Amino acid sequence: MRIPEQKVEEILHSADIVDFVGQFVQLRKRGKNYVGLCPFHNEKTPSFTVNSEKQIYYCFGCQEGGNVFKFLMSYKKISYVEAIQEIAGDLGINIEYEENKFGVQSETEVLFDINEEAARFFSNNLLKSAEGERGRLYFDNRKIKINSIRSFGLGYAQTKRDALVNHLLEKKIDIEKAIELGLIGRTDKGVLYDRFSNRLIFPIFSPNGRVIAFAGRVFETSDNMAKYINSPESKIYFKGRILYGLSHSKDEIRKLNSALLVEGYMDLISLHQHGIKNVVAVSGTALTEDQVQLLSRYTKNVVLLFDADNAGIKASMRSIEILLKQDMNIKIVSLPAGEDPDSFVQKFGKDEFLNCIQRAVNFLEYQFSIYESSGKFADPVSSTEAIRELVKPIGLISDELKRSMLIKSLAEKFNLREKLLESETEKVLKNLARETGRVDKTVSKEEALQLIDKSVSEREKELKPLLKLEKEILQILLEGKSSILDYIFENIDVEDFYLIEHKKIFELVRTMNQSVDYFNVNSLLAKLNDETLQKYCIELSVDKYRISDKWDSNNVIENEKSAIKHAKDLVRKIKLIPIEQSIRDNFEQIKSVKDEKLQIELMRENSELNQEKKFIEQKYS
Ligand code: CTP
Ligand code: MN
Repeated sequence: MRIPEQKVEEILHSADIVDFVGQFVQLRKRGKNYVGLCPFHNEKTPSFTVNSEKQIYYCFGCQEGGNVFKFLMSYKKISYVEAIQEIAGDLGINIEYEENKFGVQSETEVLFDINEEAARFFSNNLLKSAEGERGRLYFDNRKIKINSIRSFGLGYAQTKRDALVNHLLEKKIDIEKAIELGLIGRTDKGVLYDRFSNRLIFPIFSPNGRVIAFAGRVFETSDNMAKYINSPESKIYFKGRILYGLSHSKDEIRKLNSALLVEGYMDLISLHQHGIKNVVAVSGTALTEDQVQLLSRYTKNVVLLFDADNAGIKASMRSIEILLKQDMNIKIVSLPAGEDPDSFVQKFGKDEFLNCIQRAVNFLEYQFSIYESSGKFADPVSSTEAIRELVKPIGLISDELKRSMLIKSLAEKFNLREKLLESETEKVLKNLARETGRVDKTVSKEEALQLIDKSVSEREKELKPLLKLEKEILQILLEGKSSILDYIFENIDVEDFYLIEHKKIFELVRTMNQSVDYFNVNSLLAKLNDETLQKYCIELSVDKYRISDKWDSNNVIENEKSAIKHAKDLVRKIKLIPIEQSIRDNFEQIKSVKDEKLQIELMRENSELNQEKKFIEQKYS
């Protein structure tokens, strides 16, 4: 059952966001906008803004934003469908549901459904099949109760290597899509097989509780098999932006205003089973900035609970830096050697575990004790080095007061003059500024993420102007002026974009522009089921109003003519970038290759490229 898209549109257009948000937040009119105290974070001066023209809200303080559906979802912690139902109820609109047919679903809906089908299959195998007895025994041995198995959707993938293949075929599911999701693999000879066969299955949920990926654990660990394998990234799964267990834990995290960060799936499930429910797991990857950002929407207080082995210590140190950068408050718990949260809580129970949490130390003390136990304070030279290391993370904190308090405590600890430490901190700050200056501020985190394989920083430099341009183009698209939309779509193709997120948004706007009478950001948001993308679009569309007083100024798009000229400019630039890049590349090659024939070939190519360049310059001038 689903709500027909038209109905969703109708509800969206009937609800006035100002009226609606006004029921929950006291709003004051300021220019074309309304402002109030943000309900999503603590603040004393209003940075929460509702724009009636665009029918969206945005908080300049915590970057939370969206349309009226998103507001209700975040405010009441309900699902998308529930939000639609509630608003419809409010407006007295009657919803007639339609049957779920694959044909009318969006692509991501199809992917979600396939994952759900697979999750159900794995779960039934575990709970109901004869072969599943192996899995039931395994979880029983690990003291995982049936309730936990149900609530985390745990499953069993048979030893037979085509069990899921056959099941999906029977259900008439698009196998290519199942391959895209990494559930099914295909050998060189074209034989389909289950990627997760002979493993215990842990579905991975989005914060809203939809199955976006899977992890599979072997029954017995051995050197020649990965203990866990994971779904690859897909249109619905971005590894670095997901925290395992968040969907199960978010309410408790909000309630306790604190989150425990553990490493593994079993750690999280085990803790939940013992009534400790404010937990999320990084699971496998090193903690990313996006994960921290996600978590910071629920709390600023994090307790790290990583393994006490070397890898765990390294991971803690790295995580501390990332957490500090986003001004999280960090405490660290060291469990006895050889224990992880799962084994600890199973062995010693909840109370003993909570005692450990009580004894958590702040990050300075933690790092200090690590350096101390590795003998770094034994002689003056390594000791100076270690103090410098301790200062580093302090430099990452942007809150000045907090910074100076930590410097004080460090100075006391070592009997050092505060001034000395301050100057060290200054150095760190300067380095940091230089580092972050390299990645232009206009390049968002998503983009930075995409650039991760930028081992060559040259590449990054090359891409920066392109990404900025792409953003500008999307920004004018999101303004929704139809003549501009038409002009852009006539002249730019999705292939002109580099960043995958940008491609997605571009495509979606294009399809929507073809199918609806008029396009606006608000309906775009309703069509995007990726939360990060949603947020990104909002940021794009409010970006140029960063300075909130200027929110009203519409200079760029003021009149048709200058708007088209602006669009033309952007089109020219985006077309020229790859050409100019090729010219430069060729030129470099000409300089370095010895083969004369090749040199001539490259020169000929460059002269063609130069002609093309001229042509574009003329066409779009
Ligand atoms: N992990 C992974 N791939 C691996 C090994 C580990 O993705 N090959 C991730 C998993 O999320 C795992 C976490 O890293 O839960 C921690 O790994 P580890 O400590 O080895 O496993 P445990 O979580 O303790 O798993 P178990 O208790 O089932 O042995
Ligand atoms: Mn474990």
